[in-house]
Amino acid sequence: MITFPPDYLSVDDLTAAQLIGLLDLADELKAERASHHAEGTSAVRDDLAGRTVAMIFEKPSTRTRVSFQVAVTELGGDPLPLSSAELQLGRGETIGDTGAVLGRYVHAIVVRTFGQERIVALAQAADVPVVNALTDLEHPCQALADLQAFREAHGSFEGRTLTYVGDGNNVANSLLLAGAKVGLSVRVAHPEGYAPDTTVVARAEQLAADTGAQIVVTTDPVAAVAGADAVYADVWASMGQEGEAEERAALFAPFQVTSELMSHAADGAIFLHCLPAHREEEVTAEVIDGPTSRVFDQAENRLHVQKALLATLLRRDG
Ligand code: CP
Ligand code: NVA
Repeated sequence: MITFPPDYLSVDDLTAAQLIGLLDLADELKAERASHHAEGTSAVRDDLAGRTVAMIFEKPSTRTRVSFQVAVTELGGDPLPLSSAELQLGRGETIGDTGAVLGRYVHAIVVRTFGQERIVALAQAADVPVVNALTDLEHPCQALADLQAFREAHGSFEGRTLTYVGDGNNVANSLLLAGAKVGLSVRVAHPEGYAPDTTVVARAEQLAADTGAQIVVTTDPVAAVAGADAVYADVWASMGQEGEAEERAALFAPFQVTSELMSHAADGAIFLHCLPAHREEEVTAEVIDGPTSRVFDQAENRLHVQKALLATLLRRDG
């Protein structure tokens, strides 16, 4: 058995078996929580009893912040949310020193930041597990929730296709790696000049060669959506790119997910979005608020997959 890695900085840190294992555990935790809620009993476990998880946010967050906080609480631990503005980090202390110090106090660190090199530096300096809660390069916890939602809708990955339409950003990069690992074909349709990271695409192609998944990167949204089992959208301008929003809006307009675009997908296709969404920009209200949308299942699943991840990373028997 391959040892679970100390950190989760990229989808590529985990093997396919480890990813599937996390999804299976997330399904169990989701069912367990639902039955506790139905019976009115406490869903709090003791996986993280006596342990504190710091959460550093250098960018805004609704889902990640709240789902991690609730996840730690429901695993019996103590969450410690921190914004960079209230840390010395906001006054120039290095991310490495921040990680080294926090690692002396807490049992894990969850980080949302800008460049991937920042989280890598923090993880190298901290002696405790570090989890990527979004960087400019990847959003690996989101990809776990997305895979869980996809499997809930379709039952399996192999022979199926997820099409991401829009900016080749952090969410697209993590989906490419996650799909390739579990045998789910991933197509990305992007405007010229907004392709996913070339190193990530090459790695996804390499992984897909082993699992039988197909990786397609194209500028044709209709061809990419044809026959897909899920169509995925994200904002056109990510956090940190607000200044480019206007210029992007014009370029990305042909990549809006509409009912017409969805009509090219397979029967039973679902619509996915990591949220937050901008209705009538990357997706029409008709699609995101329509019957094929699973966006709130995805958002809910952040809680379950992150519980599975933290319980596994901090398992007492190693
Ligand atoms: N999907 C996601 O990560 O949302 P937040 O930015 O609200 O955390
Ligand atoms: N690509 C988006 C995802 C937000 C959850 C961003 O980085 O802002």
